[in-house]
Amino acid sequence: MPTSPPTGKAPRPGQKSADSAFKNTDSGPALPPDPASREPAAQKAGNTARMAQEMPYNPTKAKEHGRENATSPLPGAVTPSAPRDALASTPSEANHTAKYGDAAESGVNAAGGSLNRVRADSSGQTLTTNQGVTVSDNQNSLKAGLRGPALLKDFILREKITHFDHERIPERVVHARGSGAHGYFECYEPLTKYTRASIFAEKGKITPLFTRFSTVAGERGSKDTARDVRGFAVKFYTDEGNWDLVGNNMPVFFIQDAMKFPDLVHAVKPEPHHAMPQAASAHDTYWDFVSLMPESTHMLMWQMSDRAIPRSFRMMQGFGVHTFRLVNEAGQSVFVKFHWDPKLGTHSLVWDEAVKIGGADPDFNRRDLWEAIDAGDYPEWELGVQIFTEEEAEKYSFDVLDATKIVPEELVPVQPVGRMVLNRNPDNFFAETEQVAFCAAHVVPGIDFTNDPLLAGRIHSYVDTQISRLGGPNFHELPINAPLAPVHNNQRDGMHRQAIHRGRASYEPNSLGGGCPFQAGTAGFVSFPEPVQQDEVRGKPEKFAEHYNQARLFYESQAPFEQQHIADAFRFELSKVTVAAVRERVVSMLRNASEDLASKVAEGLGMPLPEAMPKALERSPEPEIEQSPRLSLTARPGDGGIRTRKVAIMIAAGTDGASAWTIANALQAEGAVVRFVGPRIGPIATSDGDQIDADASLENQPAVLFDGVVVPDGADAIGILVADGRAREFIQDQYRHCKTILALGNAATLLTQSGIEVTPNSQDKGLLISAGGAKEATQKFIQALAKHRHFERETLPPKV
Ligand code: HEM
Repeated sequence: MPTSPPTGKAPRPGQKSADSAFKNTDSGPALPPDPASREPAAQKAGNTARMAQEMPYNPTKAKEHGRENATSPLPGAVTPSAPRDALASTPSEANHTAKYGDAAESGVNAAGGSLNRVRADSSGQTLTTNQGVTVSDNQNSLKAGLRGPALLKDFILREKITHFDHERIPERVVHARGSGAHGYFECYEPLTKYTRASIFAEKGKITPLFTRFSTVAGERGSKDTARDVRGFAVKFYTDEGNWDLVGNNMPVFFIQDAMKFPDLVHAVKPEPHHAMPQAASAHDTYWDFVSLMPESTHMLMWQMSDRAIPRSFRMMQGFGVHTFRLVNEAGQSVFVKFHWDPKLGTHSLVWDEAVKIGGADPDFNRRDLWEAIDAGDYPEWELGVQIFTEEEAEKYSFDVLDATKIVPEELVPVQPVGRMVLNRNPDNFFAETEQVAFCAAHVVPGIDFTNDPLLAGRIHSYVDTQISRLGGPNFHELPINAPLAPVHNNQRDGMHRQAIHRGRASYEPNSLGGGCPFQAGTAGFVSFPEPVQQDEVRGKPEKFAEHYNQARLFYESQAPFEQQHIADAFRFELSKVTVAAVRERVVSMLRNASEDLASKVAEGLGMPLPEAMPKALERSPEPEIEQSPRLSLTARPGDGGIRTRKVAIMIAAGTDGASAWTIANALQAEGAVVRFVGPRIGPIATSDGDQIDADASLENQPAVLFDGVVVPDGADAIGILVADGRAREFIQDQYRHCKTILALGNAATLLTQSGIEVTPNSQDKGLLISAGGAKEATQKFIQALAKHRHFERETLPPKV
C-alpha cells in the first residue's frame, strides 16, 4: 500500500475572497475559497487546496536513505482522496465532441496496450487525404487546362508526394535485414523458486510476444543467405512490462567488451572506400580485425560452421549469449543462460547452395517463415535455462562474464521452461517488423543483469540508436513497442508524442496530482544488490585471456563433415582476402585451437603452415571437457517429420501421372509442400492422357529452393528432361547439396545423364532408385527426407 501523509490543517474560518478570483490562472488569494461556494472554479481550487494540504511534507523522504531502502524501497506517497476535478488539466474536459471524446478514464493511459486501437482496414471506403478529405480523382494532378502547367495549389498532389518523399527511415546500424512474427510464450511449470518474473509464475500462463530474426552485417535489402550470425530477438509483452531477450543463433560473441563493438562492426561492414562487399565477412578488414583479436576464435568456429547459413529461421537455435540473473521473491539470485531450441531441429544449408539461393531467392528465409505461418504450420521453440550459482561459476575454468564462452551442457544441463509459438504474421512490415525496437536493457522484475562488460554497453546502445532511427524519444509509444502493461510516468513531450496526459503534475513527488503516479516500492523492479568494491580500472579479468579452449571444444565436437565445412568456410573466406599476411595471421591463430583445422586451411590456401600465434595466456586453465556432443547439428534432428519440407516433383510431357499423384498425395499427407516443376509452368500432358498443372518451372524454382526431388517414370518425359540442361543441373545441385532424390523407372537415366553414379548397393541413403511402385518408394523417400541431408555423399572437390 502506498504511504499516506498525515492530513493537513483546515483553512482558517472567516477569511473570504471573491469567487471570481479562482478564475485566474496566475495570482490567487492567500487562502482557499469558501467551501460553500458554488462557482466551479472555486470548487476546483478548494479541492486542489485540500488535496495539497493532505501532503504537508514528503513522508517517504526520510526513508530514502540507507541500505534497507536500497533493497526494499517504500511505495511513494499518495493523497488518499484525490478529487477528480483537482487532477484534471481543465474543467472543460466534461464537454464532449466526436473528436476529443471524454475525459481520461481514471488511471488509464490509452496510448498503450493491444494493437487493435490502431488497426486500419479500407474495405468499402473512399480514398481520402491525410486530413480525411475525400479525394475525387487520384489519377491526375491539378492543371491550368488539360495541357496546361501543374498548379502549386494542388494540396492533394503535394501531400501525397511529400509523404512519399519521407517514407524511408534509417536502417538499423546492424541487423538491418530481418523478418518478424507475432506469437506467444507458454510457461511449462512455475519457476518461482528462482525468479519472480511473472511470465514464469504459473503452469500454462500465456504471454504475447513479437520475434524478429535478422542477419547482422548486410543492409536492409541484402540477401537472407549470407554467411553471418542470425539475430534472434524476442519481445515478451509481460503483465509486468516488456522483457526483450535480444539474442543470436550462436551462444557466444566475437568480443568481450562493448568498447570493441564499433570496431568489430566497422571491420565487417563493406569497406569504407568502395562500399564492398555487401553482407559478407570474406574481406580484408574483417579478417584483419578478428585475427588481431584472438578472443574471437571461438565465435569464428561457429561463424564458419553451417550454423551461419540456416535452412530456415524456424530451424535454428537461439541464445541469450550473456549470463543473466534470475531473482526470486525473497531477493535471492542465481545465474542463468537462455536457450531457444526449435521443435523442427537445427538444420542448415551448404555453402554452394546458400550462394545460389542468394540469386534465386534473396528472400529465402523471410519467405519460408511467412509461408509456414500463413499455412498454419506454426514454428515452435522450447525455451531452456541453464541455472547455476555464483559459487559454481567461480570454479569453472572460464569466466561466465566472458561472452566468448559457453557453459557446456555437460556442466549445467538445459532445463526446458516453456515454449514459444509464432502464429501470426504482421499486417504491415514497416509498422511492425521495421519499427519494432528491441533493447537489451528491457528487463522485468525477476530478471537482472550481470557484470558482463559486453552487456553493459548493450544496455546503453539500443535506446540510443533507436532515438535517431525512429526519430525521437517517443518510439516506445509506437503500437508494436507499447507494452501491454500500463505506462504511467512523468516523461513528457518530444517528437511525435501520442499520449495526451491529463492534469498538471508531471513531476514526482507531487501533491497537485494526488501524489500519482507513485513509486511502487518492492512491488516494482528492485536491482539485485550485488556487492561491488573494486578499484576503478580499464582492464579484463585473467580468465578472459584464455582464448582457445572452447574454440577447440567446438571443433572437436563436430562430426567429420561439419569439421570439413568449417575448414572449407575458412578457406573460402580467406581466399577472398587480398593481403597474404592477414591470411597467415588467421591460420597462425587457428593453430592454437586445432592443428588439424589449421593444416586443412593452409593446404586449401596453398600456403605453408605459419608459426602458431603467441598466446595471451601461456599456461591455460584445464578445460572441464574435451568434447560436447550437443554442439553438433547431428544431435539436433528435431521431431523427425517432413512437415513444411519443400519437394519438387519434376515433370514433363509424358510423365506417368498416376505415380506423380501417388507421390504428391503421400507427401502432402505428411505435411510436406509439394510443387510440380516442369520445363514451363501450366498444364503438362501425362502418359495416361490427363494433365498436371505445373506450378513452378526449372527456371523460376531451381533445385536450391527444394529439400528433395522426385522424378516419376515416363519414357517421353525423361527424354525431354535429359535433353534439357536445366533439368540436369537441377539434379546435379540436388545431388551436390546432399538432398534426397527419388527416381522411378526410366528416371534413373536422368541421373546417370547428369553425371551421377547409380549403383544398386550404394551407401548413399538419400539416393533412391526404384523400379517398383510409387507407393512403397515414397515411404522410403519420406524417411530419407526427414534426415535432412546425406553428407556421406560429399567429396572434395565435388564429383558432380
Ligand atoms: C556491445 C555490444 C553490442 C552493441 C553495442 C550492439 C548494438 C546494437 C545496435 C545499435 C543494434 C540496432 C538496434 C536498432 O536499431 O533497433 C543492434 C541490434 C541487434 N543486436 Fe546488438 N549490439 C551488441 C552486441 C550484441 C550481442 C552480443 C547480441 C546477441 C546476444 C546482439 C543482438 C542483436 C540483435 C538480435 C539485434 C537486432 C534486433 C532487432 O531485430 O531489431 N547484439 N545491436
